Amino acid sequence: MKLLREVRCHPASSGQSGPDWGDHGAASWTCRATVNGPIDRRTGYVFDIKRIDALVHESVLPAMQEVRARGLGVAAAVQCAFSRAAGRLEEPVGLDALELSVTQFLSFTVARGSPDMVRVTRRFEFCAAHRLYCREFSDDENRRTFGACSNPNWHGHNYVLDVIVGGEPDPGTGLVIEGAVFERAVKERAIDPFDHRNLNLECDDFKGLNPSVENIARVIWRRLDGALGTAKLHCVRVWETSKTSAEYTGP
Ligand code: NI
Repeated sequence: MKLLREVRCHPASSGQSGPDWGDHGAASWTCRATVNGPIDRRTGYVFDIKRIDALVHESVLPAMQEVRARGLGVAAAVQCAFSRAAGRLEEPVGLDALELSVTQFLSFTVARGSPDMVRVTRRFEFCAAHRLYCREFSDDENRRTFGACSNPNWHGHNYVLDVIVGGEPDPGTGLVIEGAVFERAVKERAIDPFDHRNLNLECDDFKGLNPSVENIARVIWRRLDGALGTAKLHCVRVWETSKTSAEYTGP
């Protein structure tokens, strides 16, 4: 059984600071710790959430501040915090994952299966028009299949794009990928080609391909795969609305 606890924290800024902390250093962070274990027969608990809060304040935050003071990036700090916190839990309870959101657009995750690897998620936004339809279908069939998305006069969506990369933090910098490199690659390859455009009419990627949220996620994967330095593309998730998203993790 997994139990997730979210802790909001205000890290005190230390004098020295490594790369990637930027403006986030002084803002409030959101830390999500997931523990895994059996349900206690008497209490019905996997773990007392007060002890998760204490674990975050006594292990996670100090470990991150230490790494930060050594001049290393957030990815290395979260990795160190994961191993420090995991070491303080005793069987049968284990730390399953630790996620740190430094803003609503940037988060770092370390999970039990691969504690050497840090996943970095960045969120982007773009607006685009599209129409879903099949040439072979009648107007009626298109309307039945695609509903409002088959309107012949187009319509738009505010798309939200989450790009998740993974890798081991560089020992010299503590980074999986430089923030500016990540932002530029996604902007040039996945935002600028589609933002404020008609996907059907203006974007070659969708010539003969329905611009469904599934196809948009796969097209963006192909555009980003191999273009993010030494970081490995792990997942592309596209939200068409706040209720509908598609994610692609490769062929
Ligand atoms: Ni639509």
